[in-house]
Amino acid sequence: MAHKLFLLPGDGIGTEIMAEVETLIAHLNAEGLTDFETDTGLVGGSAYDAYGVAISDADMEKALAADAVIFGAVGGPKWDNVAYDVRPEAGLLRLRKDLKLFANLRPAICYPALADASSLKRELVEGLDILIVRELTGGVYFGEPKEITDLGNGQKRAVDTQVYESYEIDRICRVAFDLAGTRRKLVHSSDKKNVMKSGVLWDEIAHQVAKDYPDITFKHILADNCAMQLVRNPKQFDVIVTDNLFGDILSDAAAMLTGSLGMLPSASLGAPDPVTGKRKALYEPVHGSAPDIAGKGVANPIAMIASFAMALRYSFGMVELADRVEAAIAGVLDAGLRSADIMQEGCRQVSTDEMGAAIIARL
Ligand code: IPM
Ligand code: MG
Repeated sequence: MAHKLFLLPGDGIGTEIMAEVETLIAHLNAEGLTDFETDTGLVGGSAYDAYGVAISDADMEKALAADAVIFGAVGGPKWDNVAYDVRPEAGLLRLRKDLKLFANLRPAICYPALADASSLKRELVEGLDILIVRELTGGVYFGEPKEITDLGNGQKRAVDTQVYESYEIDRICRVAFDLAGTRRKLVHSSDKKNVMKSGVLWDEIAHQVAKDYPDITFKHILADNCAMQLVRNPKQFDVIVTDNLFGDILSDAAAMLTGSLGMLPSASLGAPDPVTGKRKALYEPVHGSAPDIAGKGVANPIAMIASFAMALRYSFGMVELADRVEAAIAGVLDAGLRSADIMQEGCRQVSTDEMGAAIIARL
């Protein structure tokens, strides 16, 4: 039976990099390696322009019905002044919330060919392979109240609410420990238990979960220290599990260590269905819509293609094919092909299309 993919290219370079994934899907289907059916919708500014919302109910229905959602990027200066609840990011946040995608996996891998493009010294990042497991549907992103009130005396008061229940911490920690079991068997849990009650609970639950995984080394690290250690000695980490906001920040820092934010994929997963075992899932590059280079055909499609590879791995169990796509990416980099964002001396600069085609040719 065909697998249903719902493509949401979004804004800016989103459409250009998604086009490369579409070409790859067509290639894999033609080779008989996969049987994907695709449908495409609008999200972010492009949805706002068409429907006045960041994602339409009809497209939300399609996202809910799909086996996986492949997401490009949203936002751009054109929509800087639209109402807060229909801003482009609201489309992504609604997808995460309504699909209940609580587990966000953000690998930070340093491709050997790019070790010199990192802002850190080669020896600190060469071979780097970290996985940040970020809680994605709770915490300060969604906690209520979340508002600005007018105090009437010329002052205003803004409130965001950091809130976690134990089940939310428990399930994200289990995802982290399960994944660590397939890797180097080390989990760091990161919070601010020295100042936050939500951190105290986070740490308590993380320790409880750790007891169920005796073969995995468990360490606690305060989030500020974690940020510091990431830029001091990143290879000490294997899996880092943390809340929504700290995960947002730490994953950007980790991503940049690898040489380019433009290289990294992510997966957002829901809980397995009790009957079918299938998880709802959305795959997206960690980078944004890069409006400054949109429409020029120079965007780097690697994070988008690597996100599709994560879909092969985590949604469809096509581990070998995912390995091949990832090897093809590493292969074109080794061969000296570079998009503008990662261009280095002695390499050949290629367009978005050329990079996509070269990866397919390597497969
Ligand atoms: C991310 C982004 C989003 C977030 C924005 C676009 C809402 O920064 O996916 O990391 O803050 O979660
Ligand atoms: Mg972010």
